[in-house]
Amino acid sequence: MSRVAWLEQGAAHVWRPYCQHRTAPPPLAVTRAEGCRLTLADGRELVDGTASWWTAAHGYGHPHIRARVGAQLDAMPHVAFGGLAHEAAYSLAARLAALLADASRVAGGEGAGSLSRVFFTESGSVAVEVALKMALQSFHNSGRPRRTVVAFDGAYHGDTFATMSLCDPTDGMHAAFAGSGLRVVHMPLPAPGDHAFEERFATVAGDVACVIVEPLLQCAGGMRVHEGEALRRIRRACDARGALLVFDEIATGFFRSGRRFALEEAQVVPDIVVLGKALTGGTLPLAAAVASEAVFAAFLGPESTKALQHGPTYMANALACAAAHASLDLFEAGDCAARVARLEAVLRERLAPLRSRPRVVDVRVKGAMGVVEMEPGSAPSSDVFASRGAFIRPIRLARADLVYLMPPLVIGGADFDVLAGAIEGGL
Ligand SMILES: Cc1ncc(COP(=O)(O)O)c(C=O)c1O
Repeated sequence: MSRVAWLEQGAAHVWRPYCQHRTAPPPLAVTRAEGCRLTLADGRELVDGTASWWTAAHGYGHPHIRARVGAQLDAMPHVAFGGLAHEAAYSLAARLAALLADASRVAGGEGAGSLSRVFFTESGSVAVEVALKMALQSFHNSGRPRRTVVAFDGAYHGDTFATMSLCDPTDGMHAAFAGSGLRVVHMPLPAPGDHAFEERFATVAGDVACVIVEPLLQCAGGMRVHEGEALRRIRRACDARGALLVFDEIATGFFRSGRRFALEEAQVVPDIVVLGKALTGGTLPLAAAVASEAVFAAFLGPESTKALQHGPTYMANALACAAAHASLDLFEAGDCAARVARLEAVLRERLAPLRSRPRVVDVRVKGAMGVVEMEPGSAPSSDVFASRGAFIRPIRLARADLVYLMPPLVIGGADFDVLAGAIEGGL
């Protein structure tokens, strides 16, 4: 790659994410992102196989999102959310509540009712933290404190201290921090014919404030898929013992796992749902924890101590809320479920034959996610895929390497061919 002055100058000062600086090659210098393609400083164009950590659902630089953010910038980029209000956030809260009411109606099945109280944050991890605070404090406020949170083997919920405690304690990327934060009990996801989850749950249930799960598709902790029945069993266990159920739909939401929300396919309505990533179509940082009115009601009363004490400086940033409105417009306008169904079919068609390749352990596809699981340490580096025109960044865990695709949902056939060809060739 040709020399890039700003990259060389900044490299001595930037601490990169998830990076062993001693051995990692330099990052790819991007000068432009448009549609499903990244233009590099050396003139190469790569098809983006990961949609910027699964956010850029509509591709980069969508004119509708740009226009809406531009108009918001003209009016105001940001005002603090404490004591002040702005239209973009208040209308977005109402819109998300209506969307989740419709999703809950579609889900029918088992559930708690209205998901209608929206708390905005600037990152998914913080939204998960807020969901945990909602759950734990709701018990505290009602005078029946519970301290335990149940999470699942293979989970990933973020990088902050409480969310690290939720991640898989042995195989996850935060194993070094296992046991350092919340009181978390990890359990296996309910599996057909196996009652280990119910048995483990019964031993702690009286103290469980909430159970948190990535519904249908666990992402960064392993890209593993489970059935809706597992979630219905979790819902039943929660209901029987008065625990709240939190769905972390930061990755699965907005069609990534197939439907608008995974909760619709699972036919389970949680008490709190967490959204992020594709909410703004990868344009600006925004996430939300959305609680049922019953959870919200536990915070009401004359005492200010019962309030939810949280308020990130940039929460409900007006530009981000405008981007989210535009992103929701695009999700509503396009037939995203059909688009993702087609993507799921081609992911299966192209990735399934790779099962027979050396060091490949498994191939899994769910919605707009396809993964080739390899033996640890055996996945090619991003440079190998970049030399074939694709940006693909394997996840490396203790027990597996994951070469995965989670491209923009709007990806076309030619760009998809580049991604699939890069994996076929790179492996
Ligand atoms: C399911 C899930 N929860 C939480 C997070 C954390 O979100 P953020 O990176 O915005 O903090 C992620 C990010 O990958 C995620 O996939």
